[in-house]
Amino acid sequence: MSERPSFLAEEHAQAFDDPAVARAYRLRAPYPPRVFDELLKLLGTKPGWILDLGCGTGLLARPLIRHVGRVDAVDASAAMIEEARVQPGGRDRGIRWIVARAEDVKLAGPYGLAVAGQSLHWMNWDIVLPRVAKALAPGGFLALLDLCVLSPWEEEIKEVVARFSRNPSFDPAFRLTDELAKRRLWSQVGEIAIEPTARRQKVDDFIESFHARSSLTKRRLGKDAFAFDDAMRAVARRHGATEVELKVEATISWGTPGNGATPRR
Ligand SMILES: C[S@@+](CC[C@H](N)C(=O)[O-])C[C@H]1O[C@@H](n2cnc3c(N)ncnc32)[C@H](O)[C@@H]1O
Repeated sequence: MSERPSFLAEEHAQAFDDPAVARAYRLRAPYPPRVFDELLKLLGTKPGWILDLGCGTGLLARPLIRHVGRVDAVDASAAMIEEARVQPGGRDRGIRWIVARAEDVKLAGPYGLAVAGQSLHWMNWDIVLPRVAKALAPGGFLALLDLCVLSPWEEEIKEVVARFSRNPSFDPAFRLTDELAKRRLWSQVGEIAIEPTARRQKVDDFIESFHARSSLTKRRLGKDAFAFDDAMRAVARRHGATEVELKVEATISWGTPGNGATPRR
């Protein structure tokens, strides 16, 4: 099968190992509440164990544990998991925080549902998808979540981001589900766009939240981090704003993971 696109190389995913990135992640938008209703519908009456792949600071795992018996939350970054533990709900005994790569982690299972929030693209799909397929209970789905945060100054922000990004070959048209289906690693069952929710944030916090993106961490930007912040502040100043009204849009795609083999006729 063809190589993974270079903008998904491991060096970009490793940006999350940085404790400063994990701290700044607090300022990224949480998932809209309806996301959790939809995930629980996908779990249905199957066993209430959930696997969260690339769990980060637990934006999915921590709300989910209020409704199920156990969440196994796996992330390659010790810094992200350390941050997850100190956030509200992070000490819930039903969450097993596991610092490991999804490619190597020992999966307990069977899981009634597996989730991956803005994370699967970083993983080695040929290894991870077949592993998830084996760990799911019969009829269990893998749900992939995407979050899109839109500001009223989107075009200007995009220009600044493109100018400073340390991952300039990133392709915004890349669709993970299409790529996985092409590789016979994914059979999609459904997709839902959750109606956008509003989020108001101080401009300084909004700017800081960009440093929790792999392509714009302060460590990777080096001295340019100050210039990035200045350019972003200039955008807000042009609009006379000290706060920004954001629109948070989530999409859930669910399906069954495959093993890359051509189905038998
Ligand atoms: C953008 S964050 C998403 C975190 C969380 N799921 C969320 O929705 O907020 C991506 C996460 O994937 C993790 N990650 C990247 N590659 C991984 C791998 N091979 N195995 C496990 N975790 C990985 C990173 O450490 C990071 O915490």
